[in-house]
Amino acid sequence: MMLKDKVAVIYGAGGAIGSAVAHAFASEGANLFLTGRDLGPVEVVAKDVVSAGGSAQAAMVDALDEQAVEKHLQSMIDKAGRVDISFNAVGIPDTKILGVPLVELDVEQFSLPIATYTTSYFLTARLAARRMIANRSGVIMRVTALHSRTGIPLVGGYGPAMAAMEALTRDLSAELAPHGIRVVGLRPQAMPETSTIKEAFEPRAVASGMTWEQWQAMLASRTHPRRLMTLEEMANLAVFMACDQASGMTGTTVNLTMGSLDD
Ligand SMILES: NC(=O)c1ccc[n+]([C@@H]2O[C@H](COP(=O)([O-])OP(=O)(O)OC[C@H]3O[C@@H](n4cnc5c(N)ncnc54)[C@H](OP(=O)(O)O)[C@@H]3O)[C@@H](O)[C@H]2O)c1
Repeated sequence: MMLKDKVAVIYGAGGAIGSAVAHAFASEGANLFLTGRDLGPVEVVAKDVVSAGGSAQAAMVDALDEQAVEKHLQSMIDKAGRVDISFNAVGIPDTKILGVPLVELDVEQFSLPIATYTTSYFLTARLAARRMIANRSGVIMRVTALHSRTGIPLVGGYGPAMAAMEALTRDLSAELAPHGIRVVGLRPQAMPETSTIKEAFEPRAVASGMTWEQWQAMLASRTHPRRLMTLEEMANLAVFMACDQASGMTGTTVNLTMGSLDD
């Protein structure tokens, strides 16, 4: 088992990516502390993990609330003794931030993803790092998207938010790697089985005169294997990046776009 007895916290664990990563981490032996802004979806994931023979506890934690994150981490330390992996999969609804041309976008809408994504990543990483430094060991992880590296219309502040988080991954690593902590990011292409992607892209597909299926085929045609990645594939890569065999990997966001985006 690649993550046997590793203690992992996941933020946004009720979401598509957070729950897929939870299942993959659990099947490799991790002891999970699953959190989300709403308890209900996180409890469902925790129950599924436990039913499958894994170890998981659910808690309501707003990943923008410093005191709530801190309190939860302390409860983890009290119960499990340490935190080995911090995975931030928080996402805000794309309908709030996409679809308006930049020349018409107001400052508030532009700033929302930048402030939300960077603040949540900063807070969860910083508070976990303080615990990890004491153990001289740990892995901090975050998901971004290819908007960080290529121009895409009608995405408002989402691209700058993704780029900022990738910069933060590098800077956190530069400061934390000497303390034995790795900081790594995952940059998947759209995974159409997630409701996030359907909600974000279906209206654009319709507006462009395409069906949702044609839009997915168009995105898939840009990848080398001519298909889009599955959640399971992305979660399996997350397992490897979190495990000790990936000890040589830090300060980077791994390009998981299957050829859509050149490095
Ligand atoms: N899906 C993809 O194919 C894909 C591809 C590349 C990158 N990404 C990026 O990956 C991230 C996650 O995507 P996803 O598809 O998993 O999204 P998702 O299904 O919407 O999950 C996001 C989760 O974050 C939670 N959340 C939001 N604000 C929070 C807060 N302040 N504290 C704690 N939890 C909070 C949400 O809870 P609520 O439901 O209560 O709001 C939700 O459970 C996003 O940044 C997305 O842009 C996704």
